[in-house]
Amino acid sequence: MQDMEKLIRLAKKAHQNAYAPYSKFKVGAVLLTKAGNIYSGCNVENASYGLSICAERVAMSNAITNGEKEFENLVVYTDRKEFFLPCGACRQFISEFTDELKIIIVNGMDKIKITNIKELLPEKFKLS
Ligand code: THU
Repeated sequence: MQDMEKLIRLAKKAHQNAYAPYSKFKVGAVLLTKAGNIYSGCNVENASYGLSICAERVAMSNAITNGEKEFENLVVYTDRKEFFLPCGACRQFISEFTDELKIIIVNGMDKIKITNIKELLPEKFKLS
């Protein structure tokens, strides 16, 4: 699918911009909205380690900042052999906005694993 290739290309670009001098683990994330717009993010670390933020949350915050809250899919790229799924904090963060999001994980050999937020976080924390 041409759209998917474009999203993966942009996720790789975001990954290149990751600021990860401490972990050396770079992540790029790209979010496609239902309106057809694309927002990307990379992980940004800090010398005060706990302040570091994941690529997925940066991408999603970027979309929210631009007034978008309806999402089609999320592509997450790392250049490693394994597939890296979004961390627990990101799953909860994503779940705030959608229970439906399709998540495409891409590894360094361009292999793809498809999942969704419901599968990754079947029961989110919510305030009733
Ligand atoms: N990281 C992400 O960007 N996304 C995740 O889902 C998990 C971890 C980042 C945070 C940190 O900069 C580095 O990967 C190592 O944990």
